[in-house]
Amino acid sequence: MKVIINEDLVNRKDVNLEIEDRGYQFGDGVYEVIRIYESVPYTLDEHIERFYRSAYEISISPQLKKEELKKKLIRLIQENQVINGGIYVQITRGIAPRKHHYDKSISPQLLAYTLPLNQLKKEQKEGVATLTGEDLRWLRCDIKSLNLLYNVMMKQKAYENGAFESILIRDGYVTEGTSSNVFMIKDQVIYTHPANHLILDGITRRELLNLFKQKGWNYEESAFLKEELMSADEVFITSTTTEVIPVVSIDGLHISNGVPGSVTKEILKAFTQRI
Ligand code: PDD
Repeated sequence: MKVIINEDLVNRKDVNLEIEDRGYQFGDGVYEVIRIYESVPYTLDEHIERFYRSAYEISISPQLKKEELKKKLIRLIQENQVINGGIYVQITRGIAPRKHHYDKSISPQLLAYTLPLNQLKKEQKEGVATLTGEDLRWLRCDIKSLNLLYNVMMKQKAYENGAFESILIRDGYVTEGTSSNVFMIKDQVIYTHPANHLILDGITRRELLNLFKQKGWNYEESAFLKEELMSADEVFITSTTTEVIPVVSIDGLHISNGVPGSVTKEILKAFTQRI
């Protein structure tokens, strides 16, 4: 299997990673996960734009230009002969003796590899259980940072309690999941949190909002309370890896009678057609 290290496509077994890459000590970097369908990276431009934006926001300037990176990722898919799967790509600030501040001259370190990703057919069909928890993350959730400590803690909490995802609540309002965006449907209107510093502006989220616009379905990008979530007609979560997954219970209470709702099913169908 080949991987990308900075400008080079190399064999995975030949990779020697540096122990003092600031990604390890500080999580000082950003990343993307991109889906591959039929050997084509889905919404590649959007992911690359968000990757460079995240990097820019923490003052990392990738050596490769966007177009060069895209070409390399496409080459990686071809080399690894991926038909359906994903790409993980990250950039860290670089390698330097451990201290919090950094010298601006250090070179960012880029890493990309392909990974298997299966369609979560069972979850999409049957829906999943979720928990809610307080959103204790920092206030720049719009940056796709390598620092995922709280996301990991809350995802683990969900798994250990037989749930698929934790839905995060800040000041009473639903923000997003630990690795997904959250939507609810109430009285034929689809709601999701606005894309600001409190959530990651998901590419799947954006794809769906475009789809709703095209179809003329009513939607609003406005924050809603946990109580509104709990009494929603339907709830679903979205991400690159999960696509669209119905939520059928929250904190042990049924949503849409414990089965995926008809609008969510229609949305999943329309999204699948789109990809
Ligand atoms: N996570 N919100 C958070 C906190 C996320 O980590 C993700 C995705 C999303 C959905 O974004 P998108 O639709 O662009 O995938 C929302 C990726 C998949 C991950 O960390 O594995």
